[in-house]
Amino acid sequence: MSVAGAVRAVTTLRLTEMKQRGEKIAMLTSYDYSTAKIVDAAGVDVILVGDSAANVMHGYESTLPITLDMMIYHARSVVRGVNRALVVVDLPFGTYQGNSKVALDSAVRIMKETEADAVKMEGGEEILESVQRILSAGIPVMGHLGLTPQSIHKFGTYSVRAKEEAEAAKLISDAHILEDAGCFAIVLEKIPATLAEKVSKELRIPTIGIGAGGGVDGQVLVVHDMLGITNDFSPRFLRRYADLNSVMSNAISNYVSDVKNQDFPNEKEQY
Ligand code: KIV
Repeated sequence: MSVAGAVRAVTTLRLTEMKQRGEKIAMLTSYDYSTAKIVDAAGVDVILVGDSAANVMHGYESTLPITLDMMIYHARSVVRGVNRALVVVDLPFGTYQGNSKVALDSAVRIMKETEADAVKMEGGEEILESVQRILSAGIPVMGHLGLTPQSIHKFGTYSVRAKEEAEAAKLISDAHILEDAGCFAIVLEKIPATLAEKVSKELRIPTIGIGAGGGVDGQVLVVHDMLGITNDFSPRFLRRYADLNSVMSNAISNYVSDVKNQDFPNEKEQY
């Protein structure tokens, strides 16, 4: 529901219909009201309040430290800025793995306290019980397979996943398990394009890729990366649509000079 009480235009059902008619899904992250408002008005279909907030909003090296309270804080701000897009919130590390009751409690807090539309969870068969329990409460779940950053300490690296046959076979099996459980979409992160295309063709639900090539049903990027606010992260899959880092730095240095030179404020900028 939007703040005005109207059902948002993009629903989980609408995403499946988009897949069926071959219309690609555009997804971006947002973590605050002002950015979400711009992202929504520009026509993005799904806004992800990603746990990448840990990196780009809080300066942590991994996504592990962000808490459920922090995710709820970001999601509430985002929801207030969105009228059209479906808002999905990441369940952070430690709030759903290993205990399905804890998982349900975490998802219920997100839905009740933020008014978002769905949650996203990383993993396949190993988190199935948690996925099922959340779905059974009527909460839509988006899956996330391939490079799952919450497992960085298991992987040891952020490099491409599922290049070997055994891991690719497990990913395909996990994708079917998540679809059969009732997930409405699955993010496929940093896997070979051929594998992502195969999974996308086999599934009825949409796949959203990040570093997974063009054969998926939609794309997602971290908004700070695609706008060029971050400039220390340049994976091959990232297309930068702006260089806001330079725009912001130049504007701020000009402001500093103007203040120091007593050029700001001028006569017209005062009362
Ligand atoms: O947290 C996030 O931003 C994500 C996307 C990279 C898919 O999970």
